Amino acid sequence: MNAKSVTFAEKVLGWFDEHGRKDLPWQQDINPYRVWISEIMLQQTQVKTVIPYYHKFMSAFPDIKSLATAPQDEVLKHWSGLGYYARARNMHKAAKIIYTELAGKLPNNLQELQDLPGIGRSTAAAILSLSHNQKQPILDGNVKRVLCRVFAVQGWPGQSGVLKKLWSIAEELVPDNRNADYTQAMMDLGATLCTRSNPSCQVCPLRADCLAHIQGEQSTFPQRKPKKVLPERHTVMLLIQKNDSQDTSHIFMEKRPPVGIWGGLWCFPQFENITAAQEWLTINVGAELNDATSYTRFSHTFSHFKLHIEAHKISVLKIPCETPIKLAVAESSDRLWYNTETNFEGGLAAPVQQLLNRLKKEQSNGTNG
Ligand code: ADE
Repeated sequence: MNAKSVTFAEKVLGWFDEHGRKDLPWQQDINPYRVWISEIMLQQTQVKTVIPYYHKFMSAFPDIKSLATAPQDEVLKHWSGLGYYARARNMHKAAKIIYTELAGKLPNNLQELQDLPGIGRSTAAAILSLSHNQKQPILDGNVKRVLCRVFAVQGWPGQSGVLKKLWSIAEELVPDNRNADYTQAMMDLGATLCTRSNPSCQVCPLRADCLAHIQGEQSTFPQRKPKKVLPERHTVMLLIQKNDSQDTSHIFMEKRPPVGIWGGLWCFPQFENITAAQEWLTINVGAELNDATSYTRFSHTFSHFKLHIEAHKISVLKIPCETPIKLAVAESSDRLWYNTETNFEGGLAAPVQQLLNRLKKEQSNGTNG
């Protein structure tokens, strides 16, 4: 390590001592399991959103055994609202591997950690650094932004050449001592000072070294991903309420197959278009869609496409759960009538949760019908 990189780490650590975060929940009672779960939750989600989820998750699954032996529904339920459910499914899979094949202990080396589902190089490094103080460079989104600016790295950090360069810079800067603090400091610096827009350069400990700041070009680094228009998809969801003896608090739900979008989450019967939805209703329920059944339209944006949702609400006398119906979702095996006056025991996709909230609100206002 050269003299400049020591200076870099020292500046970062000096700033951390005064301004870094030291009271986050995963910084208390530190162990590899707690750090791992926090890193997975924080992958695409901000600290303030994660904190309440983290507390509840840790109460439900305080250790590897409790997570590894929990049903998937129970795990997804605790993830409901955090999005990017592949994270939760992979984490659950990894917990089972750790519990059954690794004597319940997370590996303490980079490669073995990276061999587990859902753990990439930076997450593995963060786990080792934060829980074992191992000398490991990390490179999450925040750190990429800091390094791109300080070293005026050209190109979009998703490109492999740019990424390689950033990793080699990160490796060179990592200090021999206080690695855990340095890792947390780099994350905090990126999240609180070196923000995407309006960075607080005046109070940044790296401002004298930062090439982007010196050139007045903070806003052009990191360079943006070449823009691509998100493809759009359409779907029809059917909110089927039970209409026997005035009971409208039960709604029909299906569990999606374990893989693919919303894998393992509970949804309303879902179709590509109105024709397909009508066909299914005619065969299974004998009901008709029309203007009166039209309930709402809204959009949900995923990282790789935009989904336009058209929801219809109908009341039925016939009960699909109790007749041998063809399921709306191929290969799905689970279906139920959910009593909306109770808590749902399973994972719900965000738009489904939104629709259920709206229904429940209407029910409590007495506007359901
Ligand atoms: N983002 C990813 N890991 C983090 C951590 N340990 N603290 C704060 N933000 C983070």
